[in-house]
Amino acid sequence: MAEDRQDDPFEWIDAQRERRARAGLVRRLNPRPADSPLLDLASNDYLGLARHPEVTAAAAEAARRWGAGSTGSRLVTGTTELHAALEEELAEFCGFEAALVFSSGYAANLAAVSALSDRDALVVSDAGNHASLIDGCRLSRAEVEVVPHADPAAVRKVLDAEGHEAGGGRGRRALVVTDSVFSVDGDAAPLPALAAACRSHSAALVVDDAHGLGVLGEGGRGAVHAAGLAGAPQVVVTATLSKSLGSQGGAVLGPARVIEHLVNAARTFIFDTGLNPAAAGAALASLRLLAREPQRAARARTVATALHGRLTAAGLSAVRPDAAVVSVRAPSPEQAVQWAADCRAAGLLVGCFRPPSVPDGISRLRLTARADLTDEQIEQAVGVILETAPTA
Ligand SMILES: Cc1ncc(COP(=O)(O)O)c(C=O)c1O
Repeated sequence: MAEDRQDDPFEWIDAQRERRARAGLVRRLNPRPADSPLLDLASNDYLGLARHPEVTAAAAEAARRWGAGSTGSRLVTGTTELHAALEEELAEFCGFEAALVFSSGYAANLAAVSALSDRDALVVSDAGNHASLIDGCRLSRAEVEVVPHADPAAVRKVLDAEGHEAGGGRGRRALVVTDSVFSVDGDAAPLPALAAACRSHSAALVVDDAHGLGVLGEGGRGAVHAAGLAGAPQVVVTATLSKSLGSQGGAVLGPARVIEHLVNAARTFIFDTGLNPAAAGAALASLRLLAREPQRAARARTVATALHGRLTAAGLSAVRPDAAVVSVRAPSPEQAVQWAADCRAAGLLVGCFRPPSVPDGISRLRLTARADLTDEQIEQAVGVILETAPTA
Protein backbone atom coordinates (compact mmCIF):
# COMPACT_ATOMS: atom_id res chain seq x y z
CA MET A 1 0.00 0.00 0.00
CA ALA A 2 2.72 2.43 1.12
CA GLU A 3 4.57 1.59 -2.04
CA ASP A 4 1.43 2.34 -4.06
CA ARG A 5 1.12 5.77 -2.47
CA GLN A 6 4.72 6.61 -3.23
CA ASP A 7 4.00 5.94 -6.87
CA ASP A 8 1.08 8.37 -6.91
CA PRO A 9 2.29 11.24 -9.09
CA PHE A 10 -0.38 13.61 -7.80
CA GLU A 11 -0.03 13.07 -4.07
CA TRP A 12 1.42 16.55 -3.71
CA ILE A 13 -1.87 18.00 -4.97
CA ASP A 14 -3.69 16.64 -1.92
CA ALA A 15 -1.19 18.33 0.37
CA GLN A 16 -1.62 21.63 -1.48
CA ARG A 17 -5.39 21.34 -1.35
CA GLU A 18 -5.31 20.82 2.41
CA ARG A 19 -3.05 23.84 2.88
CA ARG A 20 -5.39 25.93 0.72
CA ALA A 21 -8.45 24.74 2.63
CA ARG A 22 -6.81 25.57 5.98
CA ALA A 23 -6.06 29.09 4.71
CA GLY A 24 -9.62 29.55 3.38
CA LEU A 25 -8.29 29.97 -0.16
CA VAL A 26 -10.10 27.23 -2.07
CA ARG A 27 -11.56 28.52 -5.35
CA ARG A 28 -14.91 27.24 -6.59
CA LEU A 29 -16.74 27.48 -9.88
CA ASN A 30 -20.24 28.91 -9.76
CA PRO A 31 -22.04 28.26 -13.06
CA ARG A 32 -24.04 31.34 -14.08
CA PRO A 33 -27.62 30.71 -15.11
CA ALA A 34 -28.68 32.30 -18.40
CA ASP A 35 -31.25 34.43 -16.65
CA SER A 36 -29.71 35.16 -13.31
CA PRO A 37 -31.88 37.16 -10.93
CA LEU A 38 -28.72 38.58 -9.31
CA LEU A 39 -27.67 42.19 -9.79
CA ASP A 40 -24.29 41.87 -11.50
CA LEU A 41 -21.39 43.97 -10.23
CA ALA A 42 -18.86 41.24 -10.88
CA SER A 43 -18.61 40.84 -14.64
CA ASN A 44 -16.33 42.93 -16.82
CA ASP A 45 -19.16 43.80 -19.17
CA TYR A 46 -18.52 47.51 -18.45
CA LEU A 47 -20.76 48.89 -21.16
CA GLY A 48 -23.52 46.29 -20.90
CA LEU A 49 -22.87 45.13 -24.46
CA ALA A 50 -22.45 41.37 -23.99
CA ARG A 51 -26.22 40.90 -24.33
CA HIS A 52 -26.98 43.84 -26.56
CA PRO A 53 -29.26 42.58 -29.36
CA GLU A 54 -27.06 44.07 -32.10
CA VAL A 55 -24.00 42.36 -30.62
CA THR A 56 -25.56 38.94 -30.11
CA ALA A 57 -27.17 39.12 -33.56
CA ALA A 58 -23.76 39.89 -35.07
CA ALA A 59 -22.26 36.90 -33.24
CA ALA A 60 -25.05 34.61 -34.49
CA GLU A 61 -24.80 35.89 -38.04
CA ALA A 62 -21.01 35.46 -38.04
CA ALA A 63 -21.33 31.88 -36.78
CA ARG A 64 -23.93 31.09 -39.46
CA ARG A 65 -21.86 32.66 -42.20
CA TRP A 66 -18.33 31.62 -41.24
CA GLY A 67 -18.89 28.62 -38.97
CA ALA A 68 -18.63 27.97 -35.24
CA GLY A 69 -14.85 27.92 -35.29
CA SER A 70 -12.23 29.84 -37.24
CA THR A 71 -10.82 26.47 -38.44
CA GLY A 72 -7.13 27.26 -38.21
CA SER A 73 -4.29 29.59 -37.39
CA ARG A 74 -4.76 33.17 -38.50
CA LEU A 75 -1.94 32.49 -40.98
CA VAL A 76 -3.69 29.53 -42.60
CA THR A 77 -7.52 29.56 -42.63
CA GLY A 78 -8.31 31.47 -39.42
CA THR A 79 -8.57 34.98 -40.86
CA THR A 80 -11.99 36.08 -42.12
CA GLU A 81 -13.14 39.43 -43.46
CA LEU A 82 -14.49 40.06 -39.96
CA HIS A 83 -11.01 39.80 -38.45
CA ALA A 84 -9.63 42.21 -41.03
CA ALA A 85 -12.47 44.72 -40.51
CA LEU A 86 -12.12 44.48 -36.73
CA GLU A 87 -8.39 45.16 -36.94
CA GLU A 88 -8.84 48.13 -39.23
CA GLU A 89 -11.67 49.71 -37.26
CA LEU A 90 -10.11 49.07 -33.85
CA ALA A 91 -6.83 50.67 -34.91
CA GLU A 92 -8.63 53.67 -36.34
CA PHE A 93 -10.90 54.07 -33.29
CA CYS A 94 -7.98 54.00 -30.84
CA GLY A 95 -5.70 56.11 -33.03
CA PHE A 96 -3.05 53.59 -34.03
CA GLU A 97 -1.59 52.67 -37.39
CA ALA A 98 -2.49 49.00 -37.20
CA ALA A 99 -3.94 46.27 -35.00
CA LEU A 100 -3.76 42.50 -34.75
CA VAL A 101 -6.49 40.35 -33.21
CA PHE A 102 -5.68 37.36 -30.99
CA SER A 103 -7.82 34.60 -29.47
CA SER A 104 -7.59 36.25 -26.04
CA GLY A 105 -6.20 39.26 -24.25
CA TYR A 106 -3.90 36.83 -22.45
CA ALA A 107 -2.47 35.66 -25.78
CA ALA A 108 -2.11 39.27 -26.95
CA ASN A 109 -0.04 40.16 -23.89
CA LEU A 110 2.16 37.08 -24.23
CA ALA A 111 2.71 38.06 -27.85
CA ALA A 112 3.48 41.73 -27.32
CA VAL A 113 6.02 41.22 -24.55
CA SER A 114 7.72 38.08 -25.83
CA ALA A 115 7.96 39.13 -29.49
CA LEU A 116 9.33 42.58 -28.68
CA SER A 117 12.08 41.34 -26.39
CA ASP A 118 14.46 38.41 -26.10
CA ARG A 119 17.17 37.09 -23.84
CA ASP A 120 19.36 40.10 -24.68
CA ALA A 121 16.66 42.61 -23.72
CA LEU A 122 15.67 44.33 -20.52
CA VAL A 123 12.00 44.40 -19.52
CA VAL A 124 10.87 46.80 -16.79
CA SER A 125 7.58 45.61 -15.31
CA ASP A 126 5.23 47.27 -12.79
CA ALA A 127 4.76 45.18 -9.62
CA GLY A 128 0.98 45.36 -10.04
CA ASN A 129 0.85 44.07 -13.61
CA HIS A 130 -1.67 41.47 -14.73
CA ALA A 131 -0.62 37.81 -14.74
CA SER A 132 -0.60 37.74 -18.54
CA LEU A 133 2.02 40.51 -18.73
CA ILE A 134 4.04 38.73 -16.06
CA ASP A 135 3.87 35.51 -18.06
CA GLY A 136 4.86 37.46 -21.19
CA CYS A 137 7.96 38.64 -19.32
CA ARG A 138 8.78 35.06 -18.33
CA LEU A 139 8.27 33.81 -21.86
CA SER A 140 10.52 36.51 -23.28
CA ARG A 141 13.57 35.17 -21.40
CA ALA A 142 14.65 38.78 -21.03
CA GLU A 143 16.12 40.13 -17.83
CA VAL A 144 13.08 41.42 -15.98
CA GLU A 145 13.25 44.25 -13.46
CA VAL A 146 10.08 44.48 -11.41
CA VAL A 147 9.64 48.06 -10.24
CA PRO A 148 7.40 49.41 -7.46
CA HIS A 149 3.80 50.01 -8.48
CA ALA A 150 3.04 53.15 -10.53
CA ASP A 151 6.49 54.62 -9.95
CA PRO A 152 7.93 56.31 -13.07
CA ALA A 153 10.99 57.50 -11.09
CA ALA A 154 11.83 53.84 -10.40
CA VAL A 155 11.45 53.04 -14.11
CA ARG A 156 13.77 55.94 -15.00
CA LYS A 157 16.33 54.71 -12.48
CA VAL A 158 16.44 51.26 -14.05
CA LEU A 159 16.73 52.73 -17.56
CA ASP A 160 19.41 55.20 -16.37
CA ALA A 161 21.44 52.36 -14.89
CA GLU A 162 21.23 50.64 -18.25
CA GLY A 163 22.79 53.64 -19.97
CA HIS A 164 19.93 54.15 -22.40
CA GLU A 165 19.78 57.56 -24.00
CA ALA A 166 17.49 58.79 -26.73
CA GLY A 167 19.08 58.11 -30.09
CA GLY A 168 22.26 56.93 -28.37
CA GLY A 169 21.72 53.28 -29.10
CA ARG A 170 23.59 52.35 -25.95
CA GLY A 171 22.56 49.53 -23.65
CA ARG A 172 20.26 46.64 -24.40
CA ARG A 173 16.90 46.87 -26.08
CA ALA A 174 14.47 47.95 -23.37
CA LEU A 175 10.74 47.51 -22.94
CA VAL A 176 8.61 49.03 -20.18
CA VAL A 177 5.35 47.14 -19.54
CA THR A 178 2.36 48.27 -17.53
CA ASP A 179 -1.38 47.88 -17.15
CA SER A 180 -3.20 51.15 -17.92
CA VAL A 181 -5.78 50.51 -15.22
CA PHE A 182 -4.74 47.96 -12.63
CA SER A 183 -7.23 45.16 -12.31
CA VAL A 184 -7.06 44.75 -8.54
CA ASP A 185 -7.46 48.34 -7.30
CA GLY A 186 -8.71 50.07 -10.44
CA ASP A 187 -6.03 52.77 -10.21
CA ALA A 188 -4.42 54.19 -13.35
CA ALA A 189 -0.78 54.01 -14.40
CA PRO A 190 1.13 57.31 -14.79
CA LEU A 191 1.23 56.90 -18.58
CA PRO A 192 2.55 60.37 -19.58
CA ALA A 193 5.49 60.06 -17.16
CA LEU A 194 6.22 56.48 -18.26
CA ALA A 195 6.09 57.50 -21.93
CA ALA A 196 8.47 60.41 -21.24
CA ALA A 197 10.89 58.07 -19.47
CA CYS A 198 10.73 55.67 -22.42
CA ARG A 199 11.22 58.47 -24.96
CA SER A 200 14.31 59.80 -23.25
CA HIS A 201 15.82 56.32 -23.00
CA SER A 202 14.91 54.90 -26.44
CA ALA A 203 12.73 52.32 -24.75
CA ALA A 204 9.41 50.94 -25.97
CA LEU A 205 6.28 51.19 -23.82
CA VAL A 206 3.73 48.34 -23.82
CA VAL A 207 0.43 49.29 -22.18
CA ASP A 208 -2.26 46.73 -21.40
CA ASP A 209 -5.47 48.73 -21.81
CA ALA A 210 -7.81 45.87 -20.89
CA HIS A 211 -9.67 48.02 -18.36
CA GLY A 212 -9.28 51.34 -20.18
CA LEU A 213 -10.68 50.57 -23.63
CA GLY A 214 -14.35 51.50 -23.76
CA VAL A 215 -14.20 53.37 -20.46
CA LEU A 216 -11.45 56.00 -20.58
CA GLY A 217 -10.57 58.58 -23.22
CA GLU A 218 -12.82 60.35 -25.68
CA GLY A 219 -15.81 58.08 -26.31
CA GLY A 220 -13.98 55.15 -24.73
CA ARG A 221 -10.90 55.25 -26.96
CA GLY A 222 -8.86 54.06 -24.02
CA ALA A 223 -6.34 55.23 -21.45
CA VAL A 224 -3.54 55.65 -23.96
CA HIS A 225 -5.70 57.90 -26.12
CA ALA A 226 -6.70 59.84 -23.00
CA ALA A 227 -3.02 60.36 -22.19
CA GLY A 228 -2.38 61.82 -25.65
CA LEU A 229 -0.22 58.85 -26.60
CA ALA A 230 -2.33 57.26 -29.34
CA GLY A 231 -0.15 56.59 -32.33
CA ALA A 232 3.08 57.51 -30.52
CA PRO A 233 5.94 55.73 -32.28
CA GLN A 234 7.32 54.01 -29.18
CA VAL A 235 3.95 52.92 -27.74
CA VAL A 236 2.24 49.55 -28.20
CA VAL A 237 -1.17 48.86 -26.69
CA THR A 238 -2.73 45.53 -25.86
CA ALA A 239 -6.43 45.10 -25.22
CA THR A 240 -9.05 42.50 -24.56
CA LEU A 241 -12.31 42.22 -26.49
CA SER A 242 -13.85 40.49 -23.47
CA LYS A 243 -14.59 43.43 -21.20
CA SER A 244 -16.06 46.66 -22.60
CA LEU A 245 -16.65 45.08 -25.98
CA GLY A 246 -18.64 42.25 -24.39
CA SER A 247 -17.11 39.57 -26.59
CA GLN A 248 -13.97 37.45 -26.38
CA GLY A 249 -10.48 37.81 -27.77
CA GLY A 250 -7.59 40.23 -27.61
CA ALA A 251 -5.67 42.71 -29.72
CA VAL A 252 -2.34 44.46 -30.06
CA LEU A 253 -2.27 47.97 -31.53
CA GLY A 254 0.74 49.99 -32.60
CA PRO A 255 2.97 51.07 -35.46
CA ALA A 256 2.41 49.01 -38.63
CA ARG A 257 5.93 47.58 -38.55
CA VAL A 258 5.40 46.30 -35.01
CA ILE A 259 2.16 44.60 -36.05
CA GLU A 260 3.85 43.08 -39.09
CA HIS A 261 6.62 41.82 -36.83
CA LEU A 262 4.05 40.15 -34.55
CA VAL A 263 2.48 38.36 -37.54
CA ASN A 264 5.88 36.85 -38.21
CA ALA A 265 7.22 36.35 -34.71
CA ALA A 266 4.46 36.08 -32.08
CA ARG A 267 4.04 32.44 -31.13
CA THR A 268 0.55 32.95 -29.66
CA PHE A 269 -0.51 34.36 -33.03
CA ILE A 270 1.20 31.84 -35.29
CA PHE A 271 0.55 28.64 -33.34
CA ASP A 272 -2.96 29.38 -32.06
CA THR A 273 -6.32 28.92 -33.75
CA GLY A 274 -7.67 32.32 -34.80
CA LEU A 275 -10.37 34.05 -32.81
CA ASN A 276 -13.72 32.46 -33.59
CA PRO A 277 -15.88 34.36 -36.10
CA ALA A 278 -18.77 34.87 -33.66
CA ALA A 279 -16.45 36.65 -31.23
CA ALA A 280 -14.91 38.75 -34.00
CA GLY A 281 -18.37 39.69 -35.28
CA ALA A 282 -19.62 40.56 -31.80
CA ALA A 283 -16.56 42.70 -31.02
CA LEU A 284 -16.94 44.54 -34.30
CA ALA A 285 -20.63 45.22 -33.60
CA SER A 286 -19.75 46.49 -30.09
CA LEU A 287 -17.06 48.74 -31.44
CA ARG A 288 -19.47 50.27 -33.95
CA LEU A 289 -22.07 50.70 -31.21
CA LEU A 290 -19.55 52.44 -28.98
CA ALA A 291 -18.55 54.77 -31.81
CA ARG A 292 -22.24 55.63 -32.21
CA GLU A 293 -23.01 55.88 -28.50
CA PRO A 294 -19.93 57.40 -26.86
CA GLN A 295 -21.93 58.34 -23.76
CA ARG A 296 -21.69 54.70 -22.62
CA ALA A 297 -18.05 55.26 -21.62
CA ALA A 298 -18.83 58.35 -19.56
CA ARG A 299 -21.74 56.57 -17.86
CA ALA A 300 -19.48 53.70 -16.70
CA ARG A 301 -17.16 56.27 -15.09
CA THR A 302 -20.10 58.07 -13.47
CA VAL A 303 -21.41 54.82 -12.01
CA ALA A 304 -17.96 54.01 -10.60
CA THR A 305 -17.65 57.44 -8.98
CA ALA A 306 -21.16 57.12 -7.52
CA LEU A 307 -20.45 53.68 -6.04
CA HIS A 308 -17.17 54.83 -4.55
CA GLY A 309 -18.71 58.01 -3.15
CA ARG A 310 -21.64 56.26 -1.48
CA LEU A 311 -19.52 53.46 0.01
CA THR A 312 -16.75 55.68 1.38
CA ALA A 313 -19.27 58.18 2.75
CA ALA A 314 -20.71 55.26 4.75
CA GLY A 315 -17.28 54.52 6.21
CA LEU A 316 -15.93 51.76 3.96
CA SER A 317 -12.38 51.93 2.64
CA ALA A 318 -12.29 51.96 -1.15
CA VAL A 319 -9.74 53.13 -3.71
CA ARG A 320 -10.85 56.14 -5.76
CA PRO A 321 -11.62 54.60 -9.16
CA ASP A 322 -9.75 55.88 -12.21
CA ALA A 323 -11.97 53.83 -14.53
CA ALA A 324 -14.81 51.37 -13.85
CA VAL A 325 -13.27 49.09 -11.21
CA VAL A 326 -14.15 49.87 -7.60
CA SER A 327 -12.06 48.05 -5.02
CA VAL A 328 -13.40 47.85 -1.45
CA ARG A 329 -11.13 46.62 1.32
CA ALA A 330 -12.10 43.62 3.43
CA PRO A 331 -10.51 42.89 6.82
CA SER A 332 -9.37 39.33 5.99
CA PRO A 333 -9.60 36.71 3.22
CA GLU A 334 -12.23 34.78 5.20
CA GLN A 335 -14.33 37.89 5.78
CA ALA A 336 -13.99 38.88 2.13
CA VAL A 337 -15.32 35.49 1.06
CA GLN A 338 -18.16 35.67 3.60
CA TRP A 339 -18.98 39.24 2.56
CA ALA A 340 -19.21 38.26 -1.10
CA ALA A 341 -21.35 35.23 -0.17
CA ASP A 342 -23.67 37.41 1.94
CA CYS A 343 -24.00 39.86 -0.97
CA ARG A 344 -24.89 36.97 -3.23
CA ALA A 345 -27.49 35.69 -0.80
CA ALA A 346 -28.98 39.21 -0.80
CA GLY A 347 -29.15 39.26 -4.60
CA LEU A 348 -25.92 41.03 -5.49
CA LEU A 349 -23.02 39.47 -7.37
CA VAL A 350 -19.61 40.99 -6.55
CA GLY A 351 -16.04 39.93 -7.22
CA CYS A 352 -13.76 38.86 -4.39
CA PHE A 353 -9.98 39.24 -4.58
CA ARG A 354 -7.75 37.67 -1.99
CA PRO A 355 -4.28 36.15 -1.77
CA PRO A 356 -2.66 34.72 -3.79
CA SER A 357 -4.44 36.73 -6.54
CA VAL A 358 -3.40 39.92 -4.76
CA PRO A 359 0.32 40.36 -4.18
CA ASP A 360 -0.06 42.71 -1.20
CA GLY A 361 -2.08 40.27 0.91
CA ILE A 362 -5.05 42.67 1.14
CA SER A 363 -8.43 41.11 0.42
CA ARG A 364 -11.05 43.11 -1.41
CA LEU A 365 -14.49 43.10 -2.86
CA ARG A 366 -14.18 44.09 -6.47
CA LEU A 367 -17.12 45.89 -8.01
CA THR A 368 -17.43 46.68 -11.68
CA ALA A 369 -19.40 49.74 -12.61
CA ARG A 370 -21.52 48.98 -15.64
CA ALA A 371 -22.81 51.76 -17.86
CA ASP A 372 -26.24 50.12 -17.99
CA LEU A 373 -26.81 50.17 -14.22
CA THR A 374 -29.67 52.46 -13.26
CA ASP A 375 -29.48 54.85 -10.32
CA GLU A 376 -31.91 52.57 -8.46
CA GLN A 377 -29.63 49.57 -9.04
CA ILE A 378 -26.66 51.56 -7.74
CA GLU A 379 -28.63 52.32 -4.56
CA GLN A 380 -29.67 48.68 -4.25
CA ALA A 381 -26.06 47.52 -4.60
CA VAL A 382 -24.79 50.05 -2.06
CA GLY A 383 -27.54 49.03 0.36
CA VAL A 384 -26.60 45.34 0.16
CA ILE A 385 -22.85 45.97 0.48
CA LEU A 386 -23.36 48.15 3.57
CA GLU A 387 -25.85 45.78 5.21
CA THR A 388 -23.53 42.79 4.76
CA ALA A 389 -20.25 44.55 5.58
CA PRO A 390 -18.10 42.79 8.21
CA THR A 391 -18.10 44.57 11.52
CA ALA A 392 -14.37 44.34 12.18
C1 LIG B 1 -5.42 43.68 -17.17
C2 LIG B 1 -5.80 42.46 -17.92
N1 LIG B 1 -5.07 42.07 -18.98
C3 LIG B 1 -5.37 40.97 -19.68
C4 LIG B 1 -6.43 40.17 -19.35
C5 LIG B 1 -6.68 38.93 -20.14
O1 LIG B 1 -7.65 39.16 -21.10
P1 LIG B 1 -8.52 37.93 -21.65
O2 LIG B 1 -9.52 37.62 -20.60
O3 LIG B 1 -9.13 38.46 -22.90
O4 LIG B 1 -7.59 36.81 -21.90
C6 LIG B 1 -7.22 40.52 -18.24
C7 LIG B 1 -8.39 39.75 -17.78
O5 LIG B 1 -9.07 39.02 -18.28
C8 LIG B 1 -6.91 41.70 -17.52
O6 LIG B 1 -7.63 42.07 -16.46
